[in-house]
Amino acid sequence: MPVPFLDLKAQYASIKAEIDAAIAGVVESCQFIGGGTVRRFEQNFAAYSGAAHGVGSCSGTSALHLALLGAGVKRGNHVITACNTFIATTEAITHAGARPVLVDVDESSQLIDPERVEAAIDAKTTAIIPVHLYGQPADMDAIRDIARRHGLKVVADAAQSHGSDIDGDRRKTLGDTTAFSFYPGKNLGAYGDAGMVATDDTDAATLMRALADHGSREKYHHMYEGWNYRLDAIQAAILDVKLSHLGDWTKRRRAHAARYDRAFNGTPVKPIACAPGRTHVYHLYVVRVRDRERTIAHLKEKGIGTGIHYPIPLHLQPAYAYLGYGRGAFPTAEKVVSEILSLPMYAEMADAMIDEVAAATIAAA
Ligand SMILES: Cc1ncc(COP(=O)(O)O)c(C=O)c1O
Repeated sequence: MPVPFLDLKAQYASIKAEIDAAIAGVVESCQFIGGGTVRRFEQNFAAYSGAAHGVGSCSGTSALHLALLGAGVKRGNHVITACNTFIATTEAITHAGARPVLVDVDESSQLIDPERVEAAIDAKTTAIIPVHLYGQPADMDAIRDIARRHGLKVVADAAQSHGSDIDGDRRKTLGDTTAFSFYPGKNLGAYGDAGMVATDDTDAATLMRALADHGSREKYHHMYEGWNYRLDAIQAAILDVKLSHLGDWTKRRRAHAARYDRAFNGTPVKPIACAPGRTHVYHLYVVRVRDRERTIAHLKEKGIGTGIHYPIPLHLQPAYAYLGYGRGAFPTAEKVVSEILSLPMYAEMADAMIDEVAAATIAAA
């Protein structure tokens, strides 16, 4: 049975009538930018995430940029984040005029290691970006505690973790500002690019909303230069429909992950661990295998799609040679990077598909 890595067509087929009606509603209204549809989704998603305000944006990357500016990050500041994240996290730091400071991760969870965060703080540090990688929230209690003691802001990268929680509370996953991505393949995905910043800070929300719209609160009145980072109404309408299904989809992702976990128990396939008290929403289901190339080839032969998130840590990317880290700087991330493999994971998978992928992975690993 072929199993694609992701199947967005299956999701669309399951909600086609609702989506088509939502898109038609925006087209008929001709209110394509801003307006009630965008505001409604901002409020609904902020409420879902446990934040007071939601500021829509045109991508997760722009949301991260706004989130850093909303948290007060300025030119010349240092911002600490994990070395194994997607480049958008560090691009946003650079876009804000700051310098990325990378740290290694915890081996079992692959999440930023709070002890290493604290060791990396210097006089120029103003913020920490914990990345809730793969859908598992980082150790926010420890990170908030470090931030409080050193007077830093926490800007959470929740691009992969819509609806995750810590001790049953989604608010515990949030930073001072928190950026979400609605890239099509995300747990809550648009039909194009989209993102949002969630925050409880009313002043930060007002600033970010203005920055996302050319630095204006009132048309043609510009307090400062900003960007065109606005969220489209069509995307907001689609996302609002999908938000009503997200709880059910997350439940199914978690059930699929539990089924994979059971299948891999006692085998050489080692799932990335989930720490106690954290609700992992499994944007990605990632395992470690000894012979990754052989495993990928075997799965491919059977028509099973896989991914690697991410194949090269940021400190070894040519784009960040100027940071001067080099090979050996972050041994845990460097060790694990050659073993990680993302297996198919989406709500619409049948149990038989999970069983097929698991059996093929075990056979090759
Ligand atoms: C961890 C992480 N941060 C940031 C982003 C950027 O989001 P976007 O692609 O919506 O700009 C992504 C998604 O691609 C991501 O996975």
